[in-house]
Amino acid sequence: MITLALSKGRIFEETLPLLRSAGIEVLEDPEKSRKLILATNQPDVRVLVVRATDVPTYVQYGGADMGITGKDTLLEHGSDGLYQPLDLQIARCRISVAVRADFDYASAVRQGSRLKVATKYVAIAREFFANKGVHVDLIKLYGSMELAPLVGLADAIVDLVSTGNTLKANHLVEVEHIMDISSRLVVNQAALKLKQAPIRRIIEAFAKAIDDCHSESMDCGSSPQ
Ligand code: PRP
Repeated sequence: MITLALSKGRIFEETLPLLRSAGIEVLEDPEKSRKLILATNQPDVRVLVVRATDVPTYVQYGGADMGITGKDTLLEHGSDGLYQPLDLQIARCRISVAVRADFDYASAVRQGSRLKVATKYVAIAREFFANKGVHVDLIKLYGSMELAPLVGLADAIVDLVSTGNTLKANHLVEVEHIMDISSRLVVNQAALKLKQAPIRRIIEAFAKAIDDCHSESMDCGSSPQ
């Protein structure tokens, strides 16, 4: 049995074509079912529906053989015990610093002010500002980061930006582009040894699907809109 951990939403949707290219069809829609283990048309392949931030944990400890997770989640979690054979180039977005449109970020940085930064990406934010030599107080949040500068909880946020619509709707502007993000395939290192043939088959099918997608210059559902 090969167990693949996926999170609901965009990663799940954009993984379906890759699975199809490996001959795998998921038999239920996680948005409609409350089931957390989904069968596929392959009796020896199943899908676990887990929180995005839990995917590396399931794969690291062998609760799943493989998983698909954003680079953001991997950087925050750490990648101990995880083999990362592929950048799937799906769910692409970026991590940025954003502030209220009326906040003078450049001056604050130039003057060496201590910035209050709200984020769920504490490790990424800490490293970014440390490299810039900017002193920050990090405030850990779990969602709706855009609210923090609006109510005076923080001067800035570090968050994912895809279309930029959420920032715009909340009168925030991007002032730094920290890094580009996409989803990665992660594999449990012990599973890779024990179940080498079926895991390699899936990795190769995914790699071929990504290549085909790019060589045909198709919109493979992975570009930020
Ligand atoms: C993410 C991110 C932003 C939004 C950016 O949130 O945290 O809020 O998407 O997308 P946009 O640039 O296209 O507007 P998500 O909806 O994934 O929920 P979250 O707050 O739980 O992270």
